Amino acid sequence: MNDPIDRFAPVMRTEVPGPEARRLLELRHRYVPRGVSMTVPSVAARASGAVIEDVDGNRYIDFASGIGVLNVGSSHPDVTAAVCEQVQRLLHTCFNVIMTVPYIELAERLASITPGTFPKKALMVNSGAEAVENAVKIARKFTGRPAVVTLDNAFHGRTLLTMTLTGKADPYKLGFGPFAPEVYRAPSPYCYRCPTGGGLPDCGLACLAAVSKVVTVDIGSDQVAAVIAEPVQGEGGFIPLPEGFLSGLRDLCTRHGILLIADEIQTGFGRTGRMFACEHWGVVPDLILLAKSLAAGLPLSAVVGRADVMDSVHVGGLGGTYSGNPVACAAALAVLDVMARDGLAERGARIGEIISTRLRRQQDRLPGIGDVRGLGAMVAVELVTNRATREPARAQTTGVIRYCYEHGLIVLKAGIHDNCVRALPPLVATDDQIEQGMDIWEQALRHVLS
Ligand SMILES: Cc1ncc(COP(=O)(O)O)c(C=O)c1O
Repeated sequence: MNDPIDRFAPVMRTEVPGPEARRLLELRHRYVPRGVSMTVPSVAARASGAVIEDVDGNRYIDFASGIGVLNVGSSHPDVTAAVCEQVQRLLHTCFNVIMTVPYIELAERLASITPGTFPKKALMVNSGAEAVENAVKIARKFTGRPAVVTLDNAFHGRTLLTMTLTGKADPYKLGFGPFAPEVYRAPSPYCYRCPTGGGLPDCGLACLAAVSKVVTVDIGSDQVAAVIAEPVQGEGGFIPLPEGFLSGLRDLCTRHGILLIADEIQTGFGRTGRMFACEHWGVVPDLILLAKSLAAGLPLSAVVGRADVMDSVHVGGLGGTYSGNPVACAAALAVLDVMARDGLAERGARIGEIISTRLRRQQDRLPGIGDVRGLGAMVAVELVTNRATREPARAQTTGVIRYCYEHGLIVLKAGIHDNCVRALPPLVATDDQIEQGMDIWEQALRHVLS
């Protein structure tokens, strides 16, 4: 890109959506199903680093990263170069037909950087949901057991099995049943809204005991193939699992021969201040699921885990036409180089500090900010109409997102009550860009909540 747009954000040249976006919106309304939601009604034309320019020339600071996909930013030059080179060399073969170099090299890299010192193998597929689907297939095959335990407030995708694993009906499940069998839901620690009322440490991690009851009493532990958990629940509202919970799940699984699957699709690749969020608690899952920032925007996901578990599946049981496409794998190899060279995990921790410090300052002033939480550069505010009753402030949440958009910042909604505003900025964003974005976010909070 000749014109480095990222030095000039945000610039609002028109009211938004601008005239060209409005023209395209009309077409979109005619030809794209309304079920495909959009956070902001603009149309992107190009992007670089942490800045997006729309078709009307408006520039936004990007605190969404395509929902956690762009940890290395948009169109990182090293990734773009690797992609262009690979496109020229070899676009597709289907790994099940004839193997490609980038797939094999990426499998080796993922096996070496993921938690656990045991031998590991990696399966490449196309999307987060597909990684979850494959992990469940592998876990069932390895254990010979049918049941999968998922947590309240979880999000694991939009396919039949993964929406079944997902905790929130609206919008993910409404009218889409019947759902997949042998999926069981267990309580999860949402400390801000803990039903025990006490919260940690007084509750003694009551939710962990409740998961144990679901496994051992409700289902029967010898029927359970896997427990799946996000170390920080993403769509659920950026809820980090509290100290002791993930390690408690690890112990529970180990005791009963159950596989622990860590869904690090949103938390992976430096987002939380460590390469993988599990590392915050020293927990080693049997299978770890990767997608989103793995290939900086190209469709690629992976199931990485214990070699004995991965190899329990018969020949031909895994794969797919596009799975582990060489261009996507080449992008991923470049992403991993950039992450290591530029220390992006440490940068995730620093960005998270700036954002959460500024949001906490606002929380002291604005009673509508019920909670500020997250891990590393995965930070959200939960908005309430009343701090005492914690009534979710849905309209205000939409208002904050809209205000940010109109002033040049893209943020996302989350939360089981649709009342969280969350940030997932690219980890290459400069301190200036983060501070500029925070100026807009703070104005929005003051404007809507004062
Ligand atoms: C934790 C988690 N798991 C799974 C998925 C599904 O990924 P995909 O949309 O690529 O299917 C997501 C997507 O947001 C996610 O955040």
